[in-house]
Amino acid sequence: MKNISIALDGPAGAGKSTIAKIIANIKNLTYIDTGAMYRAIAFKILERGIHIEEEKKIQEILSRCKIDMDENDIFLDGKNITEDIRSPKVNNFVSHIAKIPHVRMKMVELQRNIASNKHVIMDGRDIGTYVMPNATYKFYLTASIEERATRRFTELKEKGIEITQKEVKDEIGNRDKIDMEREFAPLRKAEDAIEIDTTGKSIQKVVDEILYYLK
Ligand code: C5P
Repeated sequence: MKNISIALDGPAGAGKSTIAKIIANIKNLTYIDTGAMYRAIAFKILERGIHIEEEKKIQEILSRCKIDMDENDIFLDGKNITEDIRSPKVNNFVSHIAKIPHVRMKMVELQRNIASNKHVIMDGRDIGTYVMPNATYKFYLTASIEERATRRFTELKEKGIEITQKEVKDEIGNRDKIDMEREFAPLRKAEDAIEIDTTGKSIQKVVDEILYYLK
């Protein structure tokens, strides 16, 4: 039987990971959070104090680091960094790292390896356009910037992170801009992706819409 693959792309805070996890559970698919992988590399570069222009050092990190993931956690060289990769520092840095072609090539290779021989739902920015251009299903999730910022802000508040709603809005707006304007595999809707605007919709409503298409 052919493997089922679902690509779920969209800007920051559109609800991709929440929705992907639910669909993965319902349909018994492996969930792959590709954003977490870029965050892991960004975290390591920050931790080592490496500058974005120090290409050689970044390449060395890429060739040596070991990323392992399950549905809930991500490990870098054996260390659980699930919480660390969600810090404001990583938020502000990750898109700059994700612009570097070497970084992307390495992450795409890992993503394709994880996805081979499995039924997967993968969320990210370039899944339908680049990582899995032949995915069985492709979705592009959006929402207004106001709603995305409010959702993220509420999540961060619940975790006790000190941040204002304006800071969250600026951060995701900046990230979207960098992700959309980069040269290599930018964020955009694949021509054959189904676009779902999640503004004002409950999680259940969006899940139901996706399930409708998967039938
Ligand atoms: O999905 P998440 O918001 O955690 O992604 C963090 C960042 O990782 C994005 O803003 C983007 O810069 C980068 N990313 C990417 N391609 C992907 C997934 C994430 O460039 N497939």
